[in-house]
Amino acid sequence: MDKFLIKGGKELRGTVAVSGAKNSALPVMAAALLTADKVVVRNVPKVRDLVTMSKLLAFMDAKVTANAIPASDYEIQAPRLNHAEASYELVKTMRASILTLGPLMARVGAARVSLPGGCAIGARPVDLHLKALEQMGAEIATSHGYIEAKVHGNGSRGRRLRGAHIVFEKITVTGTENILMAAALADGETVLENAAREPEVTDLIVMLRKMGAEICGDGTSTLRIHGVKELHGTEHTVIPDRIEAGTFLVAGAITGGDLTITNCEPKHLGAVIAKLQQAGARIDIVDATTIRVRGAEKLVAADVTTEEYPGFATDMQAQYMVLATQAEGTSLITETIFENRFMHASEMMRMGANISIEGHTATVPSDLRASAGLVLAGLVATGETLIDRVYHIDRGYEGIVEKLKAVGADIERVHAGT
Ligand code: EPZ
Repeated sequence: MDKFLIKGGKELRGTVAVSGAKNSALPVMAAALLTADKVVVRNVPKVRDLVTMSKLLAFMDAKVTANAIPASDYEIQAPRLNHAEASYELVKTMRASILTLGPLMARVGAARVSLPGGCAIGARPVDLHLKALEQMGAEIATSHGYIEAKVHGNGSRGRRLRGAHIVFEKITVTGTENILMAAALADGETVLENAAREPEVTDLIVMLRKMGAEICGDGTSTLRIHGVKELHGTEHTVIPDRIEAGTFLVAGAITGGDLTITNCEPKHLGAVIAKLQQAGARIDIVDATTIRVRGAEKLVAADVTTEEYPGFATDMQAQYMVLATQAEGTSLITETIFENRFMHASEMMRMGANISIEGHTATVPSDLRASAGLVLAGLVATGETLIDRVYHIDRGYEGIVEKLKAVGADIERVHAGT
């Protein structure tokens, strides 16, 4: 397994471009299953999770075409879906495989998807996805670790889901995305209350609408989807990755220097920018796609509580914790989305950070945002930091070593076996 060797203490200066959003590209690629026509997806980040998604779609008999994989542009066409199945082998490497459940149920009325197990950051059940699909007429059983779902024929209309009034007990991002895709081809209207408002959900809605879906309420917690008979092909460019941009913002703020972050969407970063400014970072929105960050003379403590969008993202919590270790005063960081998302803290403590945790603490860093937090910690630490098992960061950050090197970081990838 590859490692990163980082020599800390370098100021980061220069320009770094943000890639497309992993968590937007995943549902957008899955949505290509909803039509027999060709779908073109652009600005896909070249990261492992998207390669896994492309394999998953190809297994289902979608034709996936790209110049070279990993690619930033994919053409996907699924005239027939002969294997409506997401195997354990793929789901165990990527929980987001669950995003094929909604489209498969909508398009073929049957699906067999491995149940994602718990993961490093918490139990992460998918009960809300399943309950909502049941309300839409799906019959769901779990057997041998697989979700087996089907819709019985309902009269002349065949195996179609039906619209329903769904109220999510808890806000769920991929749950909202799955139900949006399922409802787009269902009979009648679906009203989804307590829906997630993340920009990635809105990006999916924009794409579905281009495919002919009738959806309103984007960006609010009540979505109305009027099912249509068929969806058609489209082209879609994925939004910029707000978590990658936020990670570079923290990198700039903690290492001093002067970083310009391009190809980003400042309006998706409101809570992160406000918090970093409160902590003393100098941040300027240069234009609609560019942000400049300069390190503070002195960083000061600022408390953070993670929340659903538009609040401070849980996916930025580990990175923010590094900043808090550099700030004067005590910062309180409260994680409200996942029950077990503090494992980076114990590794940071090994690097000399003075963190104490109440509640669940795990000692294995295996969350991809935790790995990003440790890279940031390495950038600001004195001496050398060796980060082992960087597999997780490769799942979600395109070219992080090259991007950080280009702005002055001393970071190398050490290949396994060298
Ligand atoms: C999405 O995961 C993201 N993944 C995660 O990013 C992100 O951390 C998370 O949303 C929260 O923002 C993708 O978009 C592919 P949830 P998701 O369902 O959809 C509970 C990263 O690093 N819940 O919104 O799986 C759940 O346990 C990843 O890129 C249920 O109880 O998260 C959690 O406590 C990690 N039952 C809370 O809801 C359900 O059926 C929110 O989870 C579903 C969720």
